[in-house]
This record gives sequence, structure tokens and C-alpha cells, in this order.
Amino acid sequence: MYTTQQEKGYFNLTLDFLKKDLQKEDINNLRLILNYHEWKYYINDNPVISDYEYDILFKKLQSLEEKYPELITPDSPTMRVSSDLTEDFPTVTHLSPMLSLENSYSEDDLKDFDKQIKKLAGIDNDIQIEYSVEPKYDGSTMTLVYENDFLARAATRGNGIEGDDITPNAKVIYTIPLKAGFSSKTIAKAELRGEALIRKDQFAIINDKRLKNGLALFANARNAASGSLRMKDSLEVKKRNLSVVSYQISFATDNNGDDALKQFESHTNSIAFLKELGFKVPEKGTKLCKGIDEAIDFCKEMEEKRENLPFEIDGMVIKVNRFEIQEKCGHTMHHPRWAIAFKFKAQQAVTTLERVEFQVGRFGTITPVAKITPVQIAGVTVRSVSLHNEEFIVKKDLRLGDKVIVERAGEVIPYIVKSLPELRTGQEIPVRFPQQCPINNTDKEALLTKEESEAAWYCNNCVCGKVDLQKLIFHVSKPGMNIDGFGESYVKRFWDLDMVKDMSDFYNLDYTLISELEGFGARSAENIKNAVNKAKSNPLWRLLHSLSIKHLGKKASKLIAQKINSIWELQSWQEEDYTSIHEIGPSVANTVSEWFSFEKNISILKKMEEFGVNTKQTQEDKPVEVVENATFLNKTILFTGKLSQVTRKEAQELATKAGAKNIGAVSKNLNVLVVGDKAGSKLKKAKALGSVDIYTEEEFLEKIRAAGLIQ
Ligand code: IVH
Repeated sequence: MYTTQQEKGYFNLTLDFLKKDLQKEDINNLRLILNYHEWKYYINDNPVISDYEYDILFKKLQSLEEKYPELITPDSPTMRVSSDLTEDFPTVTHLSPMLSLENSYSEDDLKDFDKQIKKLAGIDNDIQIEYSVEPKYDGSTMTLVYENDFLARAATRGNGIEGDDITPNAKVIYTIPLKAGFSSKTIAKAELRGEALIRKDQFAIINDKRLKNGLALFANARNAASGSLRMKDSLEVKKRNLSVVSYQISFATDNNGDDALKQFESHTNSIAFLKELGFKVPEKGTKLCKGIDEAIDFCKEMEEKRENLPFEIDGMVIKVNRFEIQEKCGHTMHHPRWAIAFKFKAQQAVTTLERVEFQVGRFGTITPVAKITPVQIAGVTVRSVSLHNEEFIVKKDLRLGDKVIVERAGEVIPYIVKSLPELRTGQEIPVRFPQQCPINNTDKEALLTKEESEAAWYCNNCVCGKVDLQKLIFHVSKPGMNIDGFGESYVKRFWDLDMVKDMSDFYNLDYTLISELEGFGARSAENIKNAVNKAKSNPLWRLLHSLSIKHLGKKASKLIAQKINSIWELQSWQEEDYTSIHEIGPSVANTVSEWFSFEKNISILKKMEEFGVNTKQTQEDKPVEVVENATFLNKTILFTGKLSQVTRKEAQELATKAGAKNIGAVSKNLNVLVVGDKAGSKLKKAKALGSVDIYTEEEFLEKIRAAGLIQ
């Protein structure tokens, strides 16, 4: 349909048009690019811009046409509902035209919508309208027609008037009943609207398989769903595990052809009926709201909670609930006036892969990091994206200069979904993984190495000092010795000034010299000194973890520290001493033993001890004995907000003694949240999950008291 050259041209023009104010002369090109993006979205299943960007372009065209009505052409994208019709399936006409929804992006848009409804329906401004608010499923729209209780036909949206008949494919989707008791409510003929979806976990499996079979990856679950609906072989469709959520009865008549929909009186009643008949209907993430403010609050809440739903959603739909009011509002050529979509901030964006930097980690690991043209995703500017390892780059066939889709969802670290080879000019350069240290590649002998069982390349004989520097940075960091305020930039500076060359140097700093450094002063030197001194009495596990011994993580450090009185015992530990600890394997045993066999390491550790760093087991290192009456046995717990009667650390220790496991974030795995003063987003999130037991500090302490842990 489009040549690569054309695709590239349209894409560049898109970027240009998104940025600038458009003139009369641009109108033809604007139509061409809108047509192109409609094709990418509906037919090619491979959109290269977000819905948000499409809407901006569409609105630009609408306003130009308003200004210059003489320039409107009958084939302008504004003159028709876009189409996903293909030639592969028979075409069928929908029983009622399938409109789309007006999009809104802000609270103000929704308030305007509410005002407009009241105006259209002649309702007083101070009366609260009932809104059904539900997820805007990001899948592929379908219609289902039932005649005399049997599924008669299923179709895609098509151009809104006609769609592709995909009945055989619908019959393999379990959430579409083949027979449903519409006649119980005198309905002889019904048309339903719904969204065909692929669950997020299922989608990951499908793309994984495609990757293995060398097929192009789907950009997202929507494209996968829409592609699946249009497969020729229904048996293959069945394997895709599609679900259909039915969210509207768009047409219902009785035996005489008279309306049979009004009897439900409201949208929610009609949906409850569908549920009774065995359809999958919107439930999770829906709410019947009184008034627009409640609807707005719920939309915002769901924007934060979207990750918790099994399906992708790209916004919420706000529908006037009462049919009577819906009818008074009516519709435009394109949209019903009684419903509106509230679109979430886009989580994906297309940008350019400019460079790949190869970073050296504290174990000598080489991590490729993509430097992309900065782009806003869900409200955050993304500049760098980890590419993990060589295999990731090869599998995704990433090339410098490629247009790539970047995704950033919730708290998930941004990642590159795929490149867009159809936009290549031929100038793109395949990314080459270095064979030598990326920092100091003059030593031709020092090749990077890779172990069979691992995906990462390592620089094992670091001569440039980068690995040591990374270890020092980790040593002071939060998960390491947690030296407050002593960040990466200080370490780098002191390293460059030769003030810190090994870990022991942190505990023997020349504070007079520091106070004289540019940007420091007596005050900062004093702060550093206090933080360093505080870290000297850290528990033993912190010291172990902060040594950056390969495979030795926080958990293993804690387990080892439970077993020893002093760090020096490890000098004589044998493999069995390590592996006899449950959850510690031979790899940790090997690397820790090896570390303690090097004279250089021992002498650094000795110096640290001399400078006052604790090398003995502390109270915190000792295994916690869970009390008999363990109230929180096997529960996960999290504290948030300011506690007033105990410190957070004390609370965590008490919880551990009562059998709980402290975890750091609110997720589905959290059982108990204890809230102190000024609790914020964690509380909100936990409430939203609905599965977390929420206690006040006093309620928590009451349980601890009952377990006999405090008086
Ligand atoms: S109601 C008259 N409810 O969003 C239109 N649509 O442009 C009534 N969509 O492709 C639509 N979730 O398929 C409605 N809960 C929901 C929806 C929903 C997704 C889709 C719809 C259409 C698009 C609107």
C-alpha cells in the first residue's frame, strides 16, 4: 500500500505538523498523513503514533476546514468514520451505525461535557447526573447479533456502517455465548457492542512465540487482538485466547420489530441483564457515579490503577446512565453526545535510537544503554533506556537511527518494545557489541568474556579502573553502607582527586582537605564526617553486601551474617559452610571464598576495621526468633506515613518477630499496610487494590501486644 520511502516521508511530515501551526497550504498533506495513520492503525495493525497525536492532527484538520470551508473535499478524513474493512471477509451492515466516542484529556473537558448534557436534556445545573464510568478497553471493537437467542453473526467495526463478517472466529471465543436467553425479556433480535481483548500475560506469550518463529512482533495487545480476529483459520484464533467484554446493547427489538431496549431504563440495568445471560461485562474498574466530580475522581483513581487490570485500557468511558437522558442528548454524525472517553496519558511513544552507550557495572558487566531522542511518556521525559544485553539487541534487530517504540508503564522501567523497520531509510547502522572494554579498548588482549549460562558480557581484567569505581559507588549507596548524602558525584570527585582508591579510604578521609575543596566547606565536610562515622557501626550484613562480591546479594549477606560472630570467620569457611545455609548455593560459596583468599582484599578489610568499621555480628544481624503466637505469620507487611509511638525500624522488627515479612512496595503481594500520619500514595494504592488489610499504628501495636511482644 505504501512504499518505505512514502512511509518515511509521511512520518517526518507528521513530526513536523505536530510541532508547527498549520496553514491553508498544508491541508492536502495533512489529509494524506491522516489517511496514512488510519491505514497503519486499522489495516496494518502497526500504528506509529499514539491516539493522542492522531487526535491533535485530526483537530488541526477540523479547525482548518472550519476556517476555509471551501477547501473541504468529500474524501476528507473528517467526512467519514475511519474504516478497518478488508477484502478478506464478507461485508455485513450493522443494525445500528457504530459511532465512536469523543475524546477528552482533562478535568475541564469532563466538566464541559457535564454542562452540555444538562443543557441538552434541560436539567438544572445543581442536579447531579448519574454516570456509569467504565474502562475504555484497548482492544478491537466487535458487534454480536443474536436472533431468537442464537448467535447469528459477529462483525468487526469496519467503517461504522459496515463491518467484516467474522462469525466463525467469534464462535471459538469462549466469552461469546452461542446461545443466550434474550427472549426472557421479549427480545427477538439484539445487537451488542464489545471489545475483543487479549490479556496482558497472554499477549506476552504470543509475542514470545512470534520472536522465536522469526515473525514481526505485535506493537501491543490491541494489534494482536485485532490481527487475531481477522485470521483465516478459526483454529488458530482459538489458540490466541481472546476475550470479549460486552459493554453496550446497541439495538434490541421484539417479535413485532418494536423497541425492546427501553424496558431496562438504564445502561447499568441492561449490562446486568447481559451478565445474567452469561456475557462477560465490564465489572472490575467500573463505578456508578453521582455527578461529574465523582466520575472525575474515579477516572483519576483508575489512571493510577490501570496496571492492576488484566487487560490494557487506554482511558475510561463516562456514560449517562439513564436511557431517557441519553435520548434527549442524541448524537452527532460521529459521536453520541451522552458519552465521552477520558483518555489516559500515552504510555508509548515513537522516537529515534541515536546511540548506544556501553556501561561497565560493578562486576564488570557490560550493559548496553540506548540514548534516544528525548520523549515524553506518561508525563516523564525519557532519554535513556536499558537494552539489557547483546541478545536483546539482536532479537529486536535494533539499528542506530531506527525509529523505535518506547513504553513506560507505571513504575515499570522504560523499555524498547520494537523498532519500526518500515520507516528505515537504509542509512541505519546495526548496533555492534564491543569485543573489548568499551572505555579502554587499546589493550587488544583484554577481550570481553561470556559464560555459557549467562546473557551478559564481562570485562574481567579491568585496567581502566571503571569496575573499581563502580564498586566504590555501590559501597556508599543506600543498599550498601548507606552513607547519607555521599552520592555518585562525590565518589567520582574524590576518585579523580586520588582521595579514595579503595573502600577503606572512605573511613580515613582528610576532612580539612574536603572543607577546602571548591563547592564544599566546613559544613559539608562535617556532614560527610557524621554520615561516615554513623556507617561505621552498621550491622555486619551491610558490610558484606557493600563489598560487591559477585552473586552476594542483600539476602545472602543477611543469611551469612546470621551465622558468624565476626567477618574473619569467613577466611576459613568452606563451601559446605555456605551451602548448608538454606537458599545459598555453590555460586555464592565460590565467589565469597575466592574474595577472602585475596591478600589485597584482606588488607583493605583490615584497614577498615582499624578505622573503626564494625566487623562483628550486631543485634540486627542475629536471626529473629518468631514468637509462638505469631499474629502475622507468613504475611507481608509495609509501614507508611509517620509513626508516633515506635520508630519505623522498631515497628519492622516487631512485625518480623510476629512472623511477618517486611516488603518495600504496595503490590498484589502485600497483605498488611500499617498507616501512620500523612500517609500518601501507598495508602491510596493499597485501598485501590482492595485486598490489603489496612491498620492504624494503634491497631498494629494492639496485635503486637496481644502476641506478648510488648507490654
Ligand atoms: S461505548 C457509541 N464503552 O472505544 C459508542 N466503548 O471510540 C459507544 N470502547 O472503538 C461506545 N471500551 O469500541 C464503549 N467501555 C466502553 C468501551 C468502548 C472501549 C471503544 C469502542 C470504540 C472506542 C470509542
